[in-house]
Amino acid sequence: MKRVVVLGATSAIAQHVARLYAEQGASLFLAARNPERLAAVAADARARGATQVETAVLDLDDLRAHAGLFEAADAALGPPDVVLLAHGVLGSREAGPEEAPAILHTDLVSPTSLLLQAARRMEARRAGTLVAISSVAGDRGRAANPVYGAAKAGLTALLSALRQRLSPSGVSVLTVKPGFVDTPMTAHLPEMPFAVGPDRVARDILRALERGADVVYTPLIWRLVMLVVRLLPEKLFKKLSF
Ligand SMILES: NC(=O)c1ccc[n+]([C@@H]2O[C@H](COP(=O)([O-])OP(=O)(O)OC[C@H]3O[C@@H](n4cnc5c(N)ncnc54)[C@H](OP(=O)(O)O)[C@@H]3O)[C@@H](O)[C@H]2O)c1
Repeated sequence: MKRVVVLGATSAIAQHVARLYAEQGASLFLAARNPERLAAVAADARARGATQVETAVLDLDDLRAHAGLFEAADAALGPPDVVLLAHGVLGSREAGPEEAPAILHTDLVSPTSLLLQAARRMEARRAGTLVAISSVAGDRGRAANPVYGAAKAGLTALLSALRQRLSPSGVSVLTVKPGFVDTPMTAHLPEMPFAVGPDRVARDILRALERGADVVYTPLIWRLVMLVVRLLPEKLFKKLSF
């Protein structure tokens, strides 16, 4: 049975991934910063049939805790088959220089530290799969979410680099690019074209893992949408307001 580490386990998308793995009888190591919500996710996973569920309460912004986190996961479950990074913050359209560093820290600096820690461990034992939830927002910067988009572009680039570096060691890296997903992160947004629920994204992630995909757009329509968006010339793109 699979051993799966889920970082940001209280995220709506991560909760659904944990559910699917629990139903397969996987062993789970779940990390998040809210102890009550984390305990609820863990109880749900146990009730759904997970073989073993361990938890760690921590703020993933705390880089000094990252090495110990993976050591704790290894000690609890053994080396993971899958490490999923799911934490993130959206920030706002108006995010200025005061808010930007914190958004970049949570959405890029923290994931970079965690991915490099996990990559080093998987590379050493020549096995494992890294999964991180980036976003279509990283495919092209938009006025709607400049700092978040910049962070996700950086995360997508890091995942691409790690995939190339780790491939000779037999370690896989999956980049997940959701469009709009109906979760607490987007609850305030007035309209969300092609929106899906977090359950759909979770199913797409597991399917992508099963087929050994490198990148998954979820739902798939976003692959086409972002192909068009990426191809728009700057002269036209700067006049659009989406
Ligand atoms: N929803 C979308 O439309 C969408 C689209 C594309 C990509 N994504 C990405 O999908 C991932 C999951 O988001 P979601 O949609 O499932 O939203 P969500 O339910 O709001 O989940 C975000 C999670 O991140 C956690 N988090 C934030 N900062 C943290 C920190 N410093 N330490 C630990 N946990 C932290 C939050 O924990 P607390 O509850 O404790 O705050 C929350 O559980 C994110 O990376 C997001 O950027 C979402």
